[in-house]
Amino acid sequence: MRVKVKEVGPRDGLQNEPLFIQTEDKIAWINQLSKTGLSYIEVTSFVHPKWIPQLADAYEVASRIERVEGVTYAALVPNRKGLEGALAANMDEVAVFMSASETHNRKNINKSIEETYPVLKEVIDEAKRANKTVRGYVSTVFGCPYEGKVSIERIIAISDRLFELGIDELSLGDTIGVANPIQVQRTLERLLKQFPVEKMALHFHNTYGMALANVFASLQMGMTIFDSSLGGLGGCPYAPGASGNLATDDLVYMLTQMGIDCGVQLEPLTKAAQWIEEKIGRPLTSHHSHVVRGN
Ligand code: HMG
Ligand code: MG
Repeated sequence: MRVKVKEVGPRDGLQNEPLFIQTEDKIAWINQLSKTGLSYIEVTSFVHPKWIPQLADAYEVASRIERVEGVTYAALVPNRKGLEGALAANMDEVAVFMSASETHNRKNINKSIEETYPVLKEVIDEAKRANKTVRGYVSTVFGCPYEGKVSIERIIAISDRLFELGIDELSLGDTIGVANPIQVQRTLERLLKQFPVEKMALHFHNTYGMALANVFASLQMGMTIFDSSLGGLGGCPYAPGASGNLATDDLVYMLTQMGIDCGVQLEPLTKAAQWIEEKIGRPLTSHHSHVVRGN
């Protein structure tokens, strides 16, 4: 069995950091991540800089990183304007996003769910014309900070629509980290009846410390693609209560200990974690970083 780890630290990890990380430092960090064996890095997002000031330097970062062969470099884009930036920076892949709940969708991208589809369609069509692969995120799959539980029928309907629009892969977002392993398995049981497992990914946040348990539950369902952020950095500023992502270092440690190949080496990953820890000016939250610090 082989698992694919998709590093979202430079985007999801940093987007909520209050202290602006210098452009040069973002670039240097991504360059380090490129040499850890990771095969996928979401490097930034081309959203409105007023909404996400930390990533206002998206073009600079995306266009100046050193590309390593075999690594896919992706960026989050909300609309056509964002796509233009991502294409100008020659990203390999773009990721579109929307929520399964109306309120979060509105707070995050200022549109209703129905109004979002044509915007995403335009992005997907244009990205395909430029020969790019497109990833789709659905947020609040396992719970919404404003609306609570989200029905499985709604998640299926949105997933269906996004695949119809042409996405190549769908990432199911536990935006505020409220999923539990049984809920994950029940959700996947339904979704995997309809959508191919190799096109499905999971994106856990770790608010209640359940992200690794949720990964294990997903592995048992045959899932092999997981998003994570080095050191456990992360969170969505438009989802109150959202905390850090599943930590890449914890994920890689667990997979390695279980004898599951993911191609990522823990040693350079640890160095890259220590490096960004210094830049953000506070201790990282991953278990692995606690062990490395000795506390
Ligand atoms: P809006 O205000 O509705 O945009 O924002 P608009 O289309 O009405 O345009 C207003 C102005 O914004 C115009 O400028 C546009 O040009 C400009 P003006 O004419 O007034 O000078 N504009 C842009 N500027 C730069 N880049 C763009 C862009 N688009 C329009 N792409 C918008 C709509 C989507 C832009 C805004 O709501 C936004 O940027 N939202 C981003 C929110 C965000 O990044 N959230 C975090 C990422 S999602 C997440 O973390 C969840 C995930 O990790 C999965 C999970 O955990 O569940 C993926
Ligand atoms: Mg996220």
